[in-house]
Amino acid sequence: MSLKDLAKVELHLHLEGAAPPAFIRGLAREKHIDLSGMFDADGGYKFSDFWQFLKVYEAATETLKTPMDYHRLTLAVLEESAASGVIYSETFLSPDFCGNRDLGAWREYLQAIQEAAEIAQKTHGITLRGIITCIRHFGPEKARQTALCAAETAGDFITGFGIAGDEKIGKPKDFRWAFDAAREAGLRLTAHAGEWGGPDSVRDALHDLEVERIGHGVRAIEDLALVDELAEKGIVLEVCPGSNIALGLYPNWRAHPISTLLQRGVKVTISTDDPPFFHTTMAREYDRLHDAFDWDAGQFRAIARTSLDAAFCDADTRARIR
Ligand code: ADE
Ligand code: ZN
Repeated sequence: MSLKDLAKVELHLHLEGAAPPAFIRGLAREKHIDLSGMFDADGGYKFSDFWQFLKVYEAATETLKTPMDYHRLTLAVLEESAASGVIYSETFLSPDFCGNRDLGAWREYLQAIQEAAEIAQKTHGITLRGIITCIRHFGPEKARQTALCAAETAGDFITGFGIAGDEKIGKPKDFRWAFDAAREAGLRLTAHAGEWGGPDSVRDALHDLEVERIGHGVRAIEDLALVDELAEKGIVLEVCPGSNIALGLYPNWRAHPISTLLQRGVKVTISTDDPPFFHTTMAREYDRLHDAFDWDAGQFRAIARTSLDAAFCDADTRARIR
């Protein structure tokens, strides 16, 4: 069996970060927005470090101005994921970009995204759930407003809350109010940590925000006591190896710690983060991991089970997908 055909569960995907560059160029053309300098000669997104990546990402969102733009984006992204064999996707949604954290506007964007998700469920058999994410380098006040949007729209579709952005700016505890509000609204919690920050950053996210999953978390490997803590507590890592390699965290696939983390008993899952930015897909992640670590279909099936167990969906949804 080809790895492409294996049923995949993705827990860490940024909706805007999954926008195909041709899709963004099309919107820019329609709206007469100048995005020169944002693309390389092959038409891919152009950036040379993480900060520039964030700036190109934010520039791309300038073309995504209406709920209908997000409807089209959601359809395009889910079609691409389904083509890689993804049957369940948890996607980060950002009220920062969808209506500037205004609750009324956010509801309109959310409805457009949900309608697209229903179409994709029927046509491609892929299920979408949304994790609302605040953005660390936008600061705690905007995170507070984002958490209020999240709390007001929590339910069957919006099931989680998280934080992305530049891990070097601020501390997890600065965002405690936002995470407490989301938790009280019944949302499940995850935080990006241990990507650009070291083990202390992972510890702070765990202890100060009380999250059950960590986005990336791979730099926990630099402190084996922390790795043991992750394993003992059953904390799930949303590992995005292709993203880490493209952004220069590790020089190649063999050097990535995912295999060691797994051997040490950590609950590891596989995701793409921002696939077109990093020239990846879920199918490519599987192929590269197979090449690097000789993982077979059984190993990938076990990881997909771990992912579904850790998914922020209700029991009925989980049972339907399994
Ligand atoms: N937003 C989109 N991709 C991200 C990443 N890899 N790290 C932090 N924030 C992000
Ligand atoms: Zn991410």
